[in-house]
Amino acid sequence: MMSTSHAQSSSTAGEHATPASIVDALKTVAGNPPKVRASFAKGQCVRGTYTPAAAASGITRSVSFTKPQPVRARFSMGGGNPHVPDTNKLVLRGLSVAIGEGNQQTDLLVENAPVHFARTLDQMLGFLRARAPGEDGKPDAAKVKAFSDANPETLNQAHFVAARPLPGSFAGTTYWGVHAFPAMSATGETRLIKFKVVPAAGEITLTDDAAKDRPADFLFQDLRERIARGDVRFDVLAILGKAGDPTQDVTVRWPDEDARETVKLGTIALTAIDNNEACDATIFNPGTLADGIGRPSDEIFAARSAAYAISLGKRR
Ligand code: HEM
Repeated sequence: MMSTSHAQSSSTAGEHATPASIVDALKTVAGNPPKVRASFAKGQCVRGTYTPAAAASGITRSVSFTKPQPVRARFSMGGGNPHVPDTNKLVLRGLSVAIGEGNQQTDLLVENAPVHFARTLDQMLGFLRARAPGEDGKPDAAKVKAFSDANPETLNQAHFVAARPLPGSFAGTTYWGVHAFPAMSATGETRLIKFKVVPAAGEITLTDDAAKDRPADFLFQDLRERIARGDVRFDVLAILGKAGDPTQDVTVRWPDEDARETVKLGTIALTAIDNNEACDATIFNPGTLADGIGRPSDEIFAARSAAYAISLGKRR
């Protein structure tokens, strides 16, 4: 394929991204570690329960959110490197939650940033390819800069994370579902919501200085200690949408999103560490949504289920 180096770094030179090419690019950026997820590779599977709040049915008729349910969940570090130290401030923290089972199941995948790093699939592929390691094992800083200059919104997520202190506990971190989901209430009213998962313990953070002495797996040690103490709970909130809110661009937040009205749907209590095989044998599938929560209509969401299935196939 003929292209200048600039064209390569700022676009995918006419080629359209697919879930498969994105998974390949995620693996390449991470240095192709075998048998692990293409993204959020380092993680711990846990179990617990979901308890609905009284107001949930005013937002969604979904049995996943309006009835008590068992929960399987996984806390994770972003990126495809299964050995990334928990002191790394640049990668995301993730939480995947399968609420309920069978036709009552909804998979809620959330991360500690309210925006994604790309607006379109082509832009996501360009972002990842610009960061592919060269022969020295490092990305080419000039390529990354050229891509960022041409695609400034792809830095929104990194800027958000960089502006906040380092997470000191998975149980003390706020996570967002990023996409706008149509929710159908028990009385048949439909509105857009965004999911926000807020720690009952409040925000637990570390200064960069304090983080220097922490072991590489300190978040996972902390998780085991807190679960043993019965101390890992989150409120699941619906942030209420308004007419005119952007629904197609996952690199931007809704206007005044932090000041929006929220409704508490319920509480997740994570009470046991599980064998990782219980999570690794399958995927948390963003497309698994019990009746009452619809699919977000943006382009990024549409590609996710296929990408997760391809990643599962590669790591089996
Ligand atoms: C708002 C956007 C996104 C969020 C919040 C998000 C969040 C997550 C989380 C929490 C996991 C860990 C799943 C687990 O614990 O098993 C994950 C895995 C993954 N994500 Fe995403 N993700 C997003 C967008 C995307 C997109 C657009 C793609 C590709 C098109 C993608 C590809 C993957 C892949 C391949 C995995 C590994 C799946 C597996 O092997 O099980 N993600 N993501």
